[in-house]
Amino acid sequence: MLEKMNGHAAVAGTVTFDVLGPVGMICIDNPPVNAIGHSVRQGLMDAIARAEQNPGVKVLLIISSGEMFSAGADITEFNGLQREPSFQRVESEIESSRYPVVAAIHGLAVGGGLELALACHYRVAHRNAKLGMPEITLGIVPGAGGTQRLPRLIGTRAALDMILSGAPISGVDAKTKGLVDEVAEGDLRDAALSFCKRLLDEKLGPRPTCNRTVDTLDETTIAAARASHARALKGRTTQDLVIEAIKASRLPFSQGIAIEAALAQKSLASRESLALRHVFFAERESGKLPGASSAVVKPVQPPAIRRVAVVGAGTMGSGIALAFADAGLEVLVNDNDPSALNRSRESVQSAYASSVKRGRITQSVADERIHRIKSNPALADVADADLVIEAVFEDIELKKDVLSKLDYLVPPHRLIATNTSTLSVTELARATAHPERVLGLHFFVPAQASKLLEIVRCDHTSPESLSTAFRVAKLLKKIAVVAHDGFGFIGNRMMLDGYWREAEQLLLEGATPAQVDTALENFGFAMGPQRVSDLGGNDVGTKARIQLFQRESRPDPYFVIADRLTEMGRLGQKTGRGFYRYESGSREAVPDPEVNSLIEKLAAERGIKRREIGDQEIVERCVLSLINVGAMVLEEGVAARAADVDVVWTSGYGFPRHLGGPMFYADTLGLPNVLHRIRHYHRTLGHYWRPAALIERLAAGGSSFEQWDKTSASQ
Ligand code: NAI
Repeated sequence: MLEKMNGHAAVAGTVTFDVLGPVGMICIDNPPVNAIGHSVRQGLMDAIARAEQNPGVKVLLIISSGEMFSAGADITEFNGLQREPSFQRVESEIESSRYPVVAAIHGLAVGGGLELALACHYRVAHRNAKLGMPEITLGIVPGAGGTQRLPRLIGTRAALDMILSGAPISGVDAKTKGLVDEVAEGDLRDAALSFCKRLLDEKLGPRPTCNRTVDTLDETTIAAARASHARALKGRTTQDLVIEAIKASRLPFSQGIAIEAALAQKSLASRESLALRHVFFAERESGKLPGASSAVVKPVQPPAIRRVAVVGAGTMGSGIALAFADAGLEVLVNDNDPSALNRSRESVQSAYASSVKRGRITQSVADERIHRIKSNPALADVADADLVIEAVFEDIELKKDVLSKLDYLVPPHRLIATNTSTLSVTELARATAHPERVLGLHFFVPAQASKLLEIVRCDHTSPESLSTAFRVAKLLKKIAVVAHDGFGFIGNRMMLDGYWREAEQLLLEGATPAQVDTALENFGFAMGPQRVSDLGGNDVGTKARIQLFQRESRPDPYFVIADRLTEMGRLGQKTGRGFYRYESGSREAVPDPEVNSLIEKLAAERGIKRREIGDQEIVERCVLSLINVGAMVLEEGVAARAADVDVVWTSGYGFPRHLGGPMFYADTLGLPNVLHRIRHYHRTLGHYWRPAALIERLAAGGSSFEQWDKTSASQ
């Protein structure tokens, strides 16, 4: 072990410098994620200068305190404005150091964090470290030397793959690829100091990455990389810029790095990146408890949640049980139908068996999780759970009955949540003696995998309940969005009254299910509406509409096709027939002439004249109706921010993330243009196209949804 000779010095608030014998140890200490903001960059420059002045220092070690090496650039600098010293300047200072510079990596080293490490002459990583370049997820070309240095270390092919995937690799994999020189099994600092000592003993000097040669990136490799990332990068363009940048790594380093800088700037200014960054920030914002800074909510410390009860062991109940078991909680599953409990047990077993088969978890982890889920038919047994989630049939009277029983059994300070997808949470809560502890936790299918959790609050919801709901989202690593109570909340309301309804209208007017689905998939949706309906079950929507019509009316036609398919037993994939046909065991949607005849008949009954409809019209009508109802959801206060609506649609409904969500997309189209087209359809198609007052107001004032969010936040 090397001896510490000189004292410890903080060269900036976020970087310290210590001299340990011949090692000048520079430590980044910028909690919580060691972001490399201006102060860290300046600190690194100062530390290097200090080392220069110390004749005893023969090798530099850059290490970090806390949980990770660095999560990358400071997100407040994502707009591309970097105060000097820039990343490039710091990296060039490191790379040209006359002493060897070693990076010691633990936890995450991603984005600018990894780029900094690449500029060092040697790298030691802990075996569990995660090294990656996730910039592509924000539509950005790595701009701090990543596209030039990574290919020099691991070859153009591996570099292209790593940058296009955005996914990190482990310390062990990084060693195999040649990205790091040594893997530390135990204490990283000790391993890194020993490595430094070895460099000195073996008289190994600086080894600038920029001086290495690069292999050629050939067209076959590019085509293969494009193909393997085609799904994740559908509709995207950042990959073209990344490829251009990596190709430039063949040039002398100074030229390559200049090309990278220009391409990085171009990517930052692209609409795609603006949209992706919008969603990134919107997700961070939506996950914060509303009013957390106000006195009303701040003092609330939600109780710990260790055990969860789920009432209703159907599709959703089973998925919710899996989600909690995955998060390490104990789950009690209740159902009044023993056969449903059996099916639920089987579906849990088969979900874990498939995870084991795919290598996602080991058999012992699966066994442990299965063991955490207890099927217990007695309702009274749920009383000692910290949280109870109701997921019985979508029937208001049934749910009221179940909730009032739960309210009687469960101590009043514990949260009771309903997973209703459309019913009035306020009405359900009023069926209990403690409505303040009843709210909606709206999970999506499959509940164990979907990213979104809509938290539905009512006027009477207590801050404690809301705070517990946020804790639940955090426990499950889901993106939380708060919705106020109202039919379908944010997502289903926009889907049912806007997007899906318009898709059905287009079918009646002459489009086919395959045409509508393909047009919207080409626009960027993960899956077209009819295919989604067949996947989830056409009966699910029909049941929700039966409940809706007890409270509110909707002019005809309103899902006449889907409801007729349900009546015919064409429930979708589960019955092998829906909007499409499915061969046994296959998920491939095959167009069915029987459905076309049904649609023609329903159109004729309504006197709708059928015609050829182009893809552009399909996309325009479906997306504009989504935007219009989204604006209504905002003006009614069901969603607090346009950005929340975008999060709901990008994380829960497959709206293309690179278009930023429906409301961001509306802003990019320009609200006057959006309004002009909505008015056109209002004239030609009537009722459902009534322009949202909010769009009229914003368009008239030359404003945007983004501006509206900013104004609302400041009020
Ligand atoms: P499901 O029909 O698959 O399961 C409902 C379960 O509740 C059945 O197993 C039934 O036996 C049980 N149940 C009925 N009465 C009960 C009682 N008194 N006590 C205990 N268990 C009882 O329904 P699914 O699809 O799981 O939906 C459940 C809830 O989740 C509904 O409110 C639905 O709207 C909502 N939801 C459904 C989604 C979907 O796509 N399936 C998505 C999001 C929410």
